[in-house]
Amino acid sequence: MAELRLVESGVILGLETSCDETAAAVIAGGKVLSSVIRSQVEVHAPYGGVVPELAARAHDAAVGEVVLQAMEVAGVAPSGVEAVAVTSGPGLPSALAVGVSSALGLAVGLQVPLIGVDHMEGHLFAGTLAGPIELPALVLLVSGGHSELIAVDRPGAYRRIAATRDDAAGEAFDKVARLLGLGFPGGPAIERAAAAGNRELVSFPRAVVKEGLDLSFSGLKTAVRRYVEANPAAAVADIAACFQEAAVDTLADRVARAIEAGSYSTLVVGGGAGANLRLRERLAGIASRYGLLAAIPPPALCTDNGAMIAAAGAWRLSEGAPAGYLLDVDPGRSLVR
Ligand code: KG4
Ligand code: ZN
Repeated sequence: MAELRLVESGVILGLETSCDETAAAVIAGGKVLSSVIRSQVEVHAPYGGVVPELAARAHDAAVGEVVLQAMEVAGVAPSGVEAVAVTSGPGLPSALAVGVSSALGLAVGLQVPLIGVDHMEGHLFAGTLAGPIELPALVLLVSGGHSELIAVDRPGAYRRIAATRDDAAGEAFDKVARLLGLGFPGGPAIERAAAAGNRELVSFPRAVVKEGLDLSFSGLKTAVRRYVEANPAAAVADIAACFQEAAVDTLADRVARAIEAGSYSTLVVGGGAGANLRLRERLAGIASRYGLLAAIPPPALCTDNGAMIAAAGAWRLSEGAPAGYLLDVDPGRSLVR
């Protein structure tokens, strides 16, 4: 049976700078030896969202130290690095450029292969850090910039089954958090607030796109805004809990329908919103109801990290990644061509 697993590679350094996390990790022999993540939350918090120019500057300031720390924790000298993998897209152009040029400098200096990794393929490979993924797999990718359902028929063979018509799932959490005055990043803030709320107080609309399995979150966001305007005294915790329930329900419903319409061995979850405990609980329940294996990486591997990029890079290298040092930043890169 076909599967995706963490390749038993040589020493691979993975770099990730596509958004607001400067991350580096070292993997070798099918194990994660280190994973260092420096968050830029404090840089962007005053603006209520990621400011691309500030992100690039903060990556620039942090990337050297983060890479050195990842090698130090792994107990690997620079001369021991056998390949460098880096996110080349999708992401913020100026942020991606910092990672790509740093990786290029390292790879040229060390005379080792340079592998450009798709960030979303990285999120998929985060699943392999917890164990092998039996194929065919259904992957729910829910990050700040993307929300989609992807079928992996064979290693590297992707089909998009559904995408969002408007906001990404993480983006919806971020926007509703801003509306509720909960700050940035919104996902964890909503989840914390929701823990003390009553998720049955209001039933916000579960937006269902009639044709196909596509997602939509803008109607839900508008419904929350209208409710807040009409009920200024309502408790933030309750609204957060009801919004979270509606968003999770929408995702869970689409996943269940996709499973019913296809034939899969494993349900994989990736991307920052995959850190949400309520979503994880619901998806684990669906996987078990339909008899699928669940590959739901721990929350720290759902949000952006370097280990997932090293893992995807190791697999790409094992499949014969292109040689040479011509690597372009590709902000609009897509898993499905
Ligand atoms: O994958 P990620 O770290 O970066 C991107 O590639 O975008 O995802 C970040 C997104 C943000 O929108 C954030 O609010 C959301 O993931 N997120 C969450 C949670 N933790 C992060 N959403 C819901 N619940 C969470 N616990
Ligand atoms: Zn991501």
